[in-house]
Amino acid sequence: MPSMKALVKIIAAVMPVAAAALEHTSTTAQIRLAYHGNDGMTVSWNTLKHVKHPKVHWGLSEDNLNNTASSDVSVTYPTSTTFNNHVLISGLAPDTTYYYLPSPLSVKCKDARRRPYSFTTSRRTGDQASLSVAVAVDLGTMGSLGLSTTAGNGVSPNNVLKPGEKNTIDSLTSSLSGYQFLWHPGDIAYADYWLKEEIQGYLPNTTIEEGYRVYESILNEFYDEMMAVTATRPYMVGPGNHEANCDNGGTTDKAHNITYNSSICFPGQTNFTGYKNHFRMPSDVSGGTGNFWYSFDNGLVHFIQLDTETDLGHGFIGPDEAGGSGGIGADPVNATMDAQTTWLKADLAAVDRTKTPWIVVAGHRPLYLSHANDSTFCSACHDIFEPLFVEFDVDLYLSGHAHVYERLAPLGLNGTVDPAELNNPTSPWYITNGAAGHYDGLDSLQSPRNPYSRFGLDTHDAVYGWSRLTFHNSTHLTHEFVASNNNTVLDSATLYKAHG
Ligand SMILES: [Fe+2]
Repeated sequence: MPSMKALVKIIAAVMPVAAAALEHTSTTAQIRLAYHGNDGMTVSWNTLKHVKHPKVHWGLSEDNLNNTASSDVSVTYPTSTTFNNHVLISGLAPDTTYYYLPSPLSVKCKDARRRPYSFTTSRRTGDQASLSVAVAVDLGTMGSLGLSTTAGNGVSPNNVLKPGEKNTIDSLTSSLSGYQFLWHPGDIAYADYWLKEEIQGYLPNTTIEEGYRVYESILNEFYDEMMAVTATRPYMVGPGNHEANCDNGGTTDKAHNITYNSSICFPGQTNFTGYKNHFRMPSDVSGGTGNFWYSFDNGLVHFIQLDTETDLGHGFIGPDEAGGSGGIGADPVNATMDAQTTWLKADLAAVDRTKTPWIVVAGHRPLYLSHANDSTFCSACHDIFEPLFVEFDVDLYLSGHAHVYERLAPLGLNGTVDPAELNNPTSPWYITNGAAGHYDGLDSLQSPRNPYSRFGLDTHDAVYGWSRLTFHNSTHLTHEFVASNNNTVLDSATLYKAHG
């Protein structure tokens, strides 16, 4: 591995410097919400300067924001162009709509209006009313820094948008009335694709030394785009490999025979730093760890977010950890031995199924999929998570990472198809939907697909989409694949569980 200085010289020699073309500071406040129990909401937003006491003015009427919540949390990291402000509003009534306005909002932001936004709190645990949730994995930035109608050299024409085609953020925005919150279990902005996009000739070339600007530009652009959803719908996230550092597992410039690895990443662009700064998931009220693993109830469902990237414990090295398969080199996030599975078992054991009959778990990587690449899977999950899923009757496991959609049968240990299929199985149901879309698009499912496959879409279908879960009542759950280009449902399946 050549030194950083050598790398800079190499890439500068082959690429003209045009970093200024990608200088992009955020044009919105990147406002995002996160549930904090049934009676709280965390409001997060970004400013260009540090804020000593970020505030959120809120109330039950748009015309009367007669309450104020505040904090002293305004955090950043070395390469960031913004500060992340986090304020918890507590003492709210469940299933109630409130109006709010963060303060301050940067005067440069186009959303620096004085009209309040609104959110609706989580339903009380045990509320059996029908509930719909949107799930998108492997989403990524849309437009000139990410997925658009063109891409760089070597990208399949099937993997770019058609002229005028609606993307997944468009679809989620136009479907806001159809879901309570958006769940995004990993691979969020794909800022770490900046070098890949440059090498493929999609973005203007810069130097390795200036590359952090492009990385931060992509992050800002993504969070700007997402505000159309995340200012009014809670945005619950989980860690994916593309949050871990500035260069995923490394990038090869074949034309110049150079392979870059994570050593090019500046302080602030390793160890999930941006991800840790940007979000505040409710791990403090669920015993979890940061934005990495946590749980929350909403009505008749207990939702669990797991971390398939680090902290697998039990002697396993997480794929994103130093020595892991991803070549990323992140540190564990919890120093306690086997912390994640100890927490998961206790969390599952504490669920009152008379209140929340449904348990849905999400992790970035799949346990099962018709996909040939072993590194796609969370193989350790079969040892550490799956026995707990079976023991505690987890209803559904959602994942992404592979940029495909595949709905499987409910599966017992070792991938044995549950003979009941969707008619009251005793095994978890598995669905992978990593087809939300990002720069360079979709992957292929293996052919023939595995016997447990029930429906799939991949690059041959050239359709981006997201998942909508509808919990009709205590016994029926429908999963739909929603095509982003026109909001039609391309796959629908309903699980029946007697639940006692
Ligand atoms: Fe991934």
